Amino acid sequence: MSTLKAVRGTRDLLPPETALWNRIEATARDVFARYNFGEIRTPVFEDTGLFARGVGEETDIVSKEMYTWEDRARAQSEKTQSLTLRPENTAGVVRAYIEHGLGESGLLQKLYYIGPQFRRERPQKGRYRQFSQIGAEVIGPPSAGSESPLRDAEVLEMLATLLDELGITGWTLELNSVGSAADRARYNEALRAALVPVVGQMCGDCQRRAVTNPLRVLDCKVPADQPIIETLPVIADSLDEASRAHFAAVTAALDAAGVPYTRNHRLVRGLDYYTRTTFEFTHGGLGAQNALLGGGRYDGLSEMLGGPRAPGIGFAIGEDRLVLTLLAALNEKSAAPQVLADAFIAPLGDKEKAEELIKLNAAALVLARELRHQGLWIELGEGSFRLKKSFEAADKTARQIVILGEDELQSGILTVKNFSTGVQTKVPRGELAVFLSQ
Ligand code: HAM
Repeated sequence: MSTLKAVRGTRDLLPPETALWNRIEATARDVFARYNFGEIRTPVFEDTGLFARGVGEETDIVSKEMYTWEDRARAQSEKTQSLTLRPENTAGVVRAYIEHGLGESGLLQKLYYIGPQFRRERPQKGRYRQFSQIGAEVIGPPSAGSESPLRDAEVLEMLATLLDELGITGWTLELNSVGSAADRARYNEALRAALVPVVGQMCGDCQRRAVTNPLRVLDCKVPADQPIIETLPVIADSLDEASRAHFAAVTAALDAAGVPYTRNHRLVRGLDYYTRTTFEFTHGGLGAQNALLGGGRYDGLSEMLGGPRAPGIGFAIGEDRLVLTLLAALNEKSAAPQVLADAFIAPLGDKEKAEELIKLNAAALVLARELRHQGLWIELGEGSFRLKKSFEAADKTARQIVILGEDELQSGILTVKNFSTGVQTKVPRGELAVFLSQ
């Protein structure tokens, strides 16, 4: 019989690497708390229409990459519904913002999330079909200051702080503005006109996009199309005065805070909801999939989903790519250290004496329970092991071994060996917790 494997593009995360994932998530939660963000948890699947309307029908994500199915009706009164595993979480967060009337407080909503996303992409290093994002959104009514360029600068400054605290060096912040909806419409027309004489030489996707949504031509990855894309007009030339002023205020605040960035005129991002500021943090160590994270402003998304006016800005970090970057930067041992328990308890019995063994194992469980309740990390052996086998297991998993045989049980004096010093000590049971934690 063939053995079953994890589905292509998905993977198991195992210890000790999961310790690194937990450290990243703990650092992110800590930084988000200092910037006064609270956690939101939205469902992993949503109505397909949310992504079609929010992310955009013409985007690669919606047109090619979604895991969508028709959910069958379970009763005659129910309708079938097209559902989709979330390919990203901004649309879900804005849906929740509208559904729960979060704007009614009149305050800015600062929400973060950590969780899996799903896209049917061609898997390669740093690109998976199930991947994890750490993201945040700042959204609210305009009266709460949600449109202010200060919000953009604060989010970008927070990201620089988070990456620094995670120990990620060598990142580049690429920044652009895609302007207002009117600017984009103007730019789309400029692109459409510029594409007419050249689009015949471009790939099939570009030929279609040139008609339906010319901006998406800039997302094209086909190498032969790149020299043509280089000759197309840039969006900066289509921005109106208000969008230019907004962008200038964002960069002035970043300059003041000392957050470095470079302007990338081609950065229009692969999702339709963006307005004004767009950005990516890239890292050279990642190879082809070099975007550690991406984000931007989405001032019209709430209205696109039938909600009130609620400008917003946010980002999502590819957590898988953070882990890859950290593993490459640090040597593997210090990035994902093997965590050793404080002690390994080795009950030492006689395999032939079943009843004694049961008693001894039970006594070892009681001792482990006492020590664990006092905050120690304990690994528990097994009374039928020979002494050599207990020592081998203990040496791999703990800093010290505690021997618990019939004599030790009677006398209440236990033998402890420390693996790093090699010193063996007799310790009364009442003093054991303090001794082991030193
Ligand atoms: P995105 O650029 O599509 O934006 O994804 C953000 C990040 O998720 C990427 O920069 C990358 O690190 C990671 N990522 C995307 N696809 C994959 C994949 N197949 N495998 C591994 N990592 C991946 C968004 O998702 C927006 N919702 C971000 C946002 C939030 N904009 C405003 N608010």
